[in-house]
Amino acid sequence: MTVLVVGSGGREHSLARAIAADPAVAAVHVAPGNPGTAAFAANHPVDPCDPEAVAALASRIGANLVVIGPEAPLVAGVADAVRAAGIACFGPSAAAARLEGSKSFAKQVMAEAGVPTGDCVVCQDEAGLVAALDRFGPPYVVKHDGLAAGKGVLVTTDRQAAIEHGRDCDRVVVEEYLDGPEASLFVITDGTNALALQPAQDFKRVGDDDQGPNTGGMGAYSPLPWLAPGVVDQVMTEVVHPTLARMRELGTPFTGLLYVGLAITSRGPRVVEFNARFGDPETEAVLPLLRTPLAQVLYAAATGTLDSFGELEFDDRAGVCVVLAAQGYPASPHVGCKIVLPPDTSDAYVIQAGTSLDATGQLVASGGRVLVVVAAGDDLAAARRNAYEHITRIDFAEGFCRFDIAAKAVLEIAANGV
Ligand code: GLY
Repeated sequence: MTVLVVGSGGREHSLARAIAADPAVAAVHVAPGNPGTAAFAANHPVDPCDPEAVAALASRIGANLVVIGPEAPLVAGVADAVRAAGIACFGPSAAAARLEGSKSFAKQVMAEAGVPTGDCVVCQDEAGLVAALDRFGPPYVVKHDGLAAGKGVLVTTDRQAAIEHGRDCDRVVVEEYLDGPEASLFVITDGTNALALQPAQDFKRVGDDDQGPNTGGMGAYSPLPWLAPGVVDQVMTEVVHPTLARMRELGTPFTGLLYVGLAITSRGPRVVEFNARFGDPETEAVLPLLRTPLAQVLYAAATGTLDSFGELEFDDRAGVCVVLAAQGYPASPHVGCKIVLPPDTSDAYVIQAGTSLDATGQLVASGGRVLVVVAAGDDLAAARRNAYEHITRIDFAEGFCRFDIAAKAVLEIAANGV
């Protein structure tokens, strides 16, 4: 099988790496990819948000499967163009990707499907926004309705900041704050059949102890020792299958990856958000643990034959990933810092997320989240240790990371023996 992965970040490097490890895969291409993917795949300088260009590339290289990483190409209709060219595509149509592309659409589908989630109000002017904020009270949750490159969601106790965040946008969704730890559940679906990956947790704030501004994610771990057995089955029954059924009824079946962002509240799991693609950096922590060959299961989802697979299989190790970001991230990351990577070890390796080669061929930082150190271990403590040890071997003078990724879970395991 020849597979084309669309995107250029850490998630796409991680997906391409796992796809390349599938024995059914003969060649991996990435559009546009990054220096990390160039080590084992063919990179192509194609705009990932240009539907015709991606479809033309897929045809030219004889792709059997196209896997779309980020949300922007999905919302732009890249999956539709690839399917129209007669090529199997893992990723929802533009119409179905509205589950991520429009927060108000997602909330409407959840309401129609009876999915447990927080109350919300859709606001189109400042008076409505202020009334909604005062109805729910702090902490305030204000989401821009459309895609906003990770900058659309604000959770704050500062009422004035909440008003200003909403004022910049034509249409915002104000939501009830959902208390409780968050979990990310990735579900591979062909529109009817659905298989859950092992849940993960990510760390959205830039600083230790969840201080500072929100980011795209500073690290993740899997599995979640604190998550009660049965929660995944409950979410599949109460959230995933009703949502997929409603999307079919609407004439826009959702195929691809349904990312269910959950708050595990005292009243049970509640949906915080849907995304239409693999999460980043949770993907980096989860995929190394997956034993089921990834390309084969994505192909089955893309061709409506997911019922031919049983449950996904995972090894019983733990995975931890830690993001190394550039100084100034998330507000204004400093690019250009030289990077030298160590060789992989049996337990740890580096995924490239925001890198490029300078004129001399030197690897340099070119984005906010630059590297993702991925480690496995026999338990969460070992995986965490392996990740932070590997970071000490990286030469990236301006890189910084959080030091508490998975720390609380490791302490809880030590205290409770779970
Ligand atoms: N980890 C958060 C996201 O992918 O949106």
